[in-house]
Amino acid sequence: MKKIAFFDAKPYDKEFFDRANLAYGYNITYFKTHLNANTAELSEGADAVCAFVNDDLDKTVIDHLNAHGIEAVALRSAGYNNVDLNHAYRRLHVMRVPSYSPYSVAEHAMALIMALNRKTHRAYYRTRDGNFSINGLMGFDLHGKTAGIVGTGKIGQCLIDILLGCGMRILAHDPNPNRAYAEEKGILYVDLEQLYRESDVISLHCPLTPETHYLINEKAIEQMKPGVLLINTGRGQLINSRALIRGLKSGKIGAAGLDVYEEEAEYFFEDFSNSAIDDDVLARLMTFPNVLITSHQAFFTREALQNIADTTLKNIDDFFSDRPLLNEICYHCGGNCVKPGKKSCW
Ligand code: NAI
Repeated sequence: MKKIAFFDAKPYDKEFFDRANLAYGYNITYFKTHLNANTAELSEGADAVCAFVNDDLDKTVIDHLNAHGIEAVALRSAGYNNVDLNHAYRRLHVMRVPSYSPYSVAEHAMALIMALNRKTHRAYYRTRDGNFSINGLMGFDLHGKTAGIVGTGKIGQCLIDILLGCGMRILAHDPNPNRAYAEEKGILYVDLEQLYRESDVISLHCPLTPETHYLINEKAIEQMKPGVLLINTGRGQLINSRALIRGLKSGKIGAAGLDVYEEEAEYFFEDFSNSAIDDDVLARLMTFPNVLITSHQAFFTREALQNIADTTLKNIDDFFSDRPLLNEICYHCGGNCVKPGKKSCW
């Protein structure tokens, strides 16, 4: 029976994967720890590795897995910025779950927009404390306002549909614009400058790449509308957190909803409620009443977990059964390696 070393395992992962594995019968060993250069040896003896967003598949880890005969890595995520794909080429087949529920992430982005705009996160504590004053809780109608969506892939499009339902005007930016979609929905593709200048709400849905690293920096914030509501459910390093803090302090940024944070690997998904947070940038962000941080939970719905477990095990099964790897991500192909009839384009 093929063995899978499963990293960064949480109780909910075990629940969903054990159920999905009834159809396959793989021997899964769940490790709580992240996969990185210090823990890669735990995978020795396994035939495949299953990893998540904060596991670090750098050169050292890839070489280690390769040296121990592991040829397949199944990511339980859509994003793959944590893998050195260039180095993985011809060493490891890396597969992902390209779409498990774009609705889950788009709906969470909407939840952040709604909470920050109408300040429900603050009203909750006030009323529980017997404080029924509404001073300071005023929001604005989304209807008639402009939303700027950066990245109009699966998640961006779901959010656009929701925002159109609120009567918002949509500006979008994407290096691969979907013109037919734009025409059908009545949205406008613009350059980033115009999107920053005209948007009341900005939401980030592009992947983290060298081009999008620190996309939101001092200069971008300077161009934004005063009081803009900024949402990031993409990846933490899309935003320069220090520039964001300066924008929040000056009032240029009206509110920020962050499901991801650039240095999240150490903290997110773990309980630090009994310890001091020694990341001063994160600690500073948490002091703002108009910042709402969630711990990379945008994907976290029943439907998404079910799809993640089913697709991940199917990816692994495709690999071991020599079927085409439809969800392979490959440096050589620049993304999805879909050459039919083969394991990959190697
Ligand atoms: P997708 O691949 O369907 O869409 C991404 C879009 O971004 C594409 O249309 C692409 O052309 C566009 N893009 C690429 N470079 C860009 C740039 N420089 N500027 C603007 N747009 C650019 O991906 P999907 O499924 O919509 O996911 C988007 C991102 O959301 C993922 O890469 C991942 O990082 C993040 N994500 C976060 C989750 C969470 O739980 N917080 C869960 C799932 C994904």
